[in-house]
Amino acid sequence: MCGIVGYLGKKNIKEILLSGLKELEYRGYDSAGIAVLEDGNFSIYKAVGKLVNLEEKTKDYESHGFAVGIGHTRWATHGKPTELNAHPHLGESSYVVHNGIIENYAQLKKELQDKGVVFLSQTDTEVIVHQFEKNLKLLKNSFDAFSKTVGELQGAYAILLVTKSEPDTIFFAKQGSPMLIGVDEQNDSYFASSDTPLIGQCNSVNYFEDGDFGYVTPKKLMIFSANGTQRDAKFVPLSQNKLSAQKDGFRFFMEKEIYEQSSVISDTLMGRLSESEVIFEELNENLFYGISEIKFCACGTSYHSAMSAFYLFERYAKVKTSLEVASEFRYRNPIMSKDTLFVVISQSGETADTLETLKMAKKAGLKTLVICNVDNSSMVRLADAAILTRAGIEKGVASTKAFATQVTVFWMLSLYVAKIRNSLSGTDIANQIALLREVPKHTKVTEVLHEKMKRLSKRYLHGHGFFFIGRDIFYPLALEGALKLKEISYLHAEGYPAGEMKHGPIALADPELFTIALLPQHLHYEKTKSNVEELSARDSTICVISSEEFDKADDFVQISSCKHYMLEFYEMMIVVQLLSLEISVRLGNDVDMPRNLAKSVTVE
Ligand code: M6R
Repeated sequence: MCGIVGYLGKKNIKEILLSGLKELEYRGYDSAGIAVLEDGNFSIYKAVGKLVNLEEKTKDYESHGFAVGIGHTRWATHGKPTELNAHPHLGESSYVVHNGIIENYAQLKKELQDKGVVFLSQTDTEVIVHQFEKNLKLLKNSFDAFSKTVGELQGAYAILLVTKSEPDTIFFAKQGSPMLIGVDEQNDSYFASSDTPLIGQCNSVNYFEDGDFGYVTPKKLMIFSANGTQRDAKFVPLSQNKLSAQKDGFRFFMEKEIYEQSSVISDTLMGRLSESEVIFEELNENLFYGISEIKFCACGTSYHSAMSAFYLFERYAKVKTSLEVASEFRYRNPIMSKDTLFVVISQSGETADTLETLKMAKKAGLKTLVICNVDNSSMVRLADAAILTRAGIEKGVASTKAFATQVTVFWMLSLYVAKIRNSLSGTDIANQIALLREVPKHTKVTEVLHEKMKRLSKRYLHGHGFFFIGRDIFYPLALEGALKLKEISYLHAEGYPAGEMKHGPIALADPELFTIALLPQHLHYEKTKSNVEELSARDSTICVISSEEFDKADDFVQISSCKHYMLEFYEMMIVVQLLSLEISVRLGNDVDMPRNLAKSVTVE
């Protein structure tokens, strides 16, 4: 997602800002920009696409001495990836960069427009700089104006602002989005959204806390807490290892990505929910006209999220859906009719089997849609329409946050289609939207849960196999839990519909058969419980994941009491991901690069 850098000092500011942005490329972006203030004049450069375009635009620019500057890589949310929407954003004599979302931007924008302020972009960010300049006119002091502005913003942000009224100062504020500052031996200051741009520049850094705001000049760094009291910076040594810096203190990328799910899901939802409807600016409703079936096609984890879509679409959008494993579909001469919307799902957008099915569907004249995490990937370029999942770059081979964001997109999309097809009432859609907003809260990893999974994992390192079982939409989650475990632990695991165990697999039941049972309170609780009891009666070792105490289980992982089965889904997702992670760690395996697997499978 978006990245921020800033610099104040006498070194080559262009190089520092551009190389800082380069280090943030891994977060994903679709445009970038820098603003440098030197001798009272701004130099601004913005470019759509990769940083090489920005480098090209800045090739003739050189700074000559002391300067302050800010830079940004933008992952489009409010408004398309254009130069006008790229940061930094200009007021009359100030520039701002921002990560996050200003939730009350529409109201602030209206008030400013009513006073005659002209907006150039479609972003929420632009209100910050205009609000600052309005306050500056009123208060005649830049810091007072900045503090007032920060107090007027609602939402999540990391902000850097530079202004001609204080040409040797960078103003900053942080709430909910990461940001840190480093100072080098010459007392030059560096800002960034994560450690990596500062490695090699500074030996120690201060990580801002939520609510922090303030300013830095060549002489001083002033930090204030949310309540306005001044506090000292807490500088800590900066690791000089880039790989470990990218892991942000986590042992593995997979672990970091499990923890990131709450925030990336917020990004997935950002700008796409109103009180009463789901908004996909990137879609045209026409895509769904004349459609009598939606066919989902994918591989691996993406196939599991597609299976969750299968349940959601039939339940909410009341449309006939079907599901295809891409590697099977492409060789079975499938019947493809033009009233089918063909939806491919892929984290990478490059998986050969899935890409081929998309080509087949296009050739057969079907309308096509891709749900993907990588903009400009082959599938995004080929499909008629694309929804980006906004999970940020996923490095662990075992997919986690990609799955979480795919399911979130599908839940939203099922409501979007439900509205078009009139299959849910306005109240039902509004209720579902309210639930969607709660997903980030239910995907936060707590220390208590993680510690529990670390302890529990030692009991599950052997045996002759695992069955992950669940019903309805918990069946694809069971499949996904089993896939995660086998990918990184190399233990045999299967996902099974809970009600199907009695038709064969129950023959395997004994104490060395481990059953991981997904037992949601709000969906088929009694039915699934009976299936678990059948296994318990045959002495299978059972780990139940539920909000409800279950006395026939050997192990029990309690999730919080949720309002709805989809929220239970996300809580259980975190549990099965952590369980796999910790089993793999105990077995001494390479969690991020498991044997025989590749992140993107571009061969058939
Ligand atoms: O990039 P894609 O989503 O198309 O990849 C599909 C599968 O190769 C992928 O999900 C794979 O199963 C992962 N290793 C799962 O963790």
